[in-house]
Amino acid sequence: MARRPLLAGNWKMHKTASEATKLVQQLAYSYDDAYAGVDVVVCPPFTALRSAQVTLDFDTSSPIRIGAQDVFWEPSGAYTGAISAAMLRDVACRFCIVGHSERRMYFHETDEDVARKAAALIGEGIAPILCCGETIETRESGRTLAFVTAQIKAALSLLSASDAEPVVVAYEPVWAIGTGRTPTPEQADEVCAAIRDTYRELYGVAAGEALRILYGGSMNVGNVDAFRAMPNIDGGLVGGASLKAEDFMALVKAFS
Ligand code: PGA
Repeated sequence: MARRPLLAGNWKMHKTASEATKLVQQLAYSYDDAYAGVDVVVCPPFTALRSAQVTLDFDTSSPIRIGAQDVFWEPSGAYTGAISAAMLRDVACRFCIVGHSERRMYFHETDEDVARKAAALIGEGIAPILCCGETIETRESGRTLAFVTAQIKAALSLLSASDAEPVVVAYEPVWAIGTGRTPTPEQADEVCAAIRDTYRELYGVAAGEALRILYGGSMNVGNVDAFRAMPNIDGGLVGGASLKAEDFMALVKAFS
């Protein structure tokens, strides 16, 4: 079954609201109908979600979608600084990154937190982009597949088969993020195949076939074609190369 490719730009802690408006305008302007077969998502910081939404609303035909970078699992309450899934839906988020390695590392997010966040998003009709990936020590010790599949099982632990349908997985080796280093496309595909097998075991053959798995970690114009050619890689979660419209659109084009 042909899976629809997805390119998501993870802007991380970059772009003010006004800078985001400019970048979204540039992306919308450089979008070409030839890319219609690809889902294109931008994930600005919370403070820029509304301006991204308003900018895209001007162009009702724009197929570019908005995602967030994080969420808190409670629906409301005394959680200073937190943002709920309903708040994200209110600013038109269709996707939300969950469990990025930077959140795990700097904000001490656990697998349990990731599972609760994914469930909260599903409850609001937002597709989680579940991140997983090994450190260099884990890779060198030969434990990558066991580690990554355990992360995925934990992240999905609160989701039934129908809940899990919109889920997207992003495989991002920690050592490849922002470093310019990448696994070989075959190494990345091996992990993505193991993720697909895990999903199949949990939710059935059809669900495994339908799952979209993105590669992330120093994806750029120079290496995108090699990743795209892999049977289990259905798109990218892109950091650095998503901050310039020209670069990001070149990646979208590669998946078209
Ligand atoms: P990078 O980041 O493309 O800058 O390596 C990817 C990510 O962290 O999602």
